[in-house]
Amino acid sequence: MVQIVNKNKIIMVVDDDKNFAKLLEYNLTNEGYIVNTASSGKEALIKMDLKKHALLITDLKMPGMSGIEILRQAKEIDNSLPVIIITGQGDTVTAVEAMKLGAFDFITKPLKPNELIITVRNALNSRILIDKVSELRSQLETRYDFKNIIGSSEKMQAVFKMMENAVSSSVTVLIQGESGTGKELVARAIHYNGSRKERPFIVVNCAAIPETLLESELFGYERGAFTGALERKIGKFEQADNGTIFLDEIAEMSPMTQAKLLRVLEGKEVERLGGHERIKVDVRIISATNRELTEEVKESRFREDLYYRLMVFPITLPPLRERKGDVPLLISHFMNIYAKGAGKKISHFSGEAMEYLMGYSWPGNVRELENVIERAVVLCEGDTINLSHLPVGLDAFSGNRLPQVFDGGMETAKIVSLENMESEALKKALDIAEHNISRAAKELGIGRATFYRKAKKFGIL
Ligand SMILES: Nc1ncnc2c1ncn2[C@@H]1O[C@H](COP(=O)(O)OP(=O)(O)OP(=O)(O)O)[C@@H](O)[C@H]1O
Ligand SMILES: [Mg+2]
Repeated sequence: MVQIVNKNKIIMVVDDDKNFAKLLEYNLTNEGYIVNTASSGKEALIKMDLKKHALLITDLKMPGMSGIEILRQAKEIDNSLPVIIITGQGDTVTAVEAMKLGAFDFITKPLKPNELIITVRNALNSRILIDKVSELRSQLETRYDFKNIIGSSEKMQAVFKMMENAVSSSVTVLIQGESGTGKELVARAIHYNGSRKERPFIVVNCAAIPETLLESELFGYERGAFTGALERKIGKFEQADNGTIFLDEIAEMSPMTQAKLLRVLEGKEVERLGGHERIKVDVRIISATNRELTEEVKESRFREDLYYRLMVFPITLPPLRERKGDVPLLISHFMNIYAKGAGKKISHFSGEAMEYLMGYSWPGNVRELENVIERAVVLCEGDTINLSHLPVGLDAFSGNRLPQVFDGGMETAKIVSLENMESEALKKALDIAEHNISRAAKELGIGRATFYRKAKKFGIL
């Protein structure tokens, strides 16, 4: 029978006191761990293929190599290896040094078995967590690598230049551009390529959160601040400390919250609702909007002083219709991604299909294009995407002439999909309500959140 050894269970114990090492081994083996022992640091480092051990437990004072030295060398080989130090009486000074070098925790002689097991369990969990976090982080970093932002047009090249400048500092960035032009993508890329990448990137969508809740989301509250505040809540600004906060749809923020935000930006301090303490925060701010913020300022819907605080480093993303040359690149980018995801081998895009998409004005920009390609990949059964995989009537609302292929009486061109009708209704309502989401939703008799979700889906917001 083959015994399967879970590497998350193998522990190395180093102690020159053989009896104590035996005692540890006995206790740990009883809990189902697999224990290797060594009586000196040298022996441990030789015996140990560190990558195969989940945890190192070492005595501090030993002849020859000290526990501190073992810790240092072990960390050099595998920085995420948790190390537990065994200390006796009067080891305080070296214990502090061990902590600084990254020791996870201590156990003291004489041994208390319960304490040992809990400390070991915590250490092993911490490693699993560290590994998971670093795996997720590297996934994020690859995902938000500049090279995954597609665009060879001059306008996009100018954007990349701006982004590179923004990355090297913590300057406050305002990203403007129509819906679906990649504002959030750019914000993430700036964060994950900058010096704050190890720290959180916190997104706050000012349009999706009801006005009354936005303030407590941003700044948090103390227990008892209002009826229903049963626990203290840490706000997004505090969560983003040393990292980045992304204030999306900033133009939707109510005047009252705008005033509070301004105060936070000026003082670099937040105060939780119902609290008296001012908490220092170091947060990089990236905000985004699909509205013309200067217009909003002119119409007195957005505070001018806040506007100047936010637009220190403005980046404007061009609509897709102004960089049509990027359409084929984007098509192939999304085709690859979605075909791979679906396990399909799609390698071609028909000329007619390309012409059709090039003739469209893309009001929903890259998001709309991405949706069209995702759908085409689902429908495509061969290796080529052609007209039959694309939605009919894309041009019905774009004001463009239908491309050649649809002239000559093809009935299908006049059929408008339900989705298109729905998206048209949303757009009209927004127009009538002068881009006020709450009013537009009321106009259609649906909730604000529903409106938001649908508008997002169609690439209108
Ligand atoms: N240049 C680009 N290259 C590759 N993918 C892109 C590009 N621009 C946008 N996308 C993709 O298009 C989708 C929409 O982008 P994103 O959410 O960043 O847009 P947005 O400007 O924030 O839109 P909205 O104003 O509606 O919130 C995302 O899936 C994003 O990855
Ligand atoms: Mg967005």
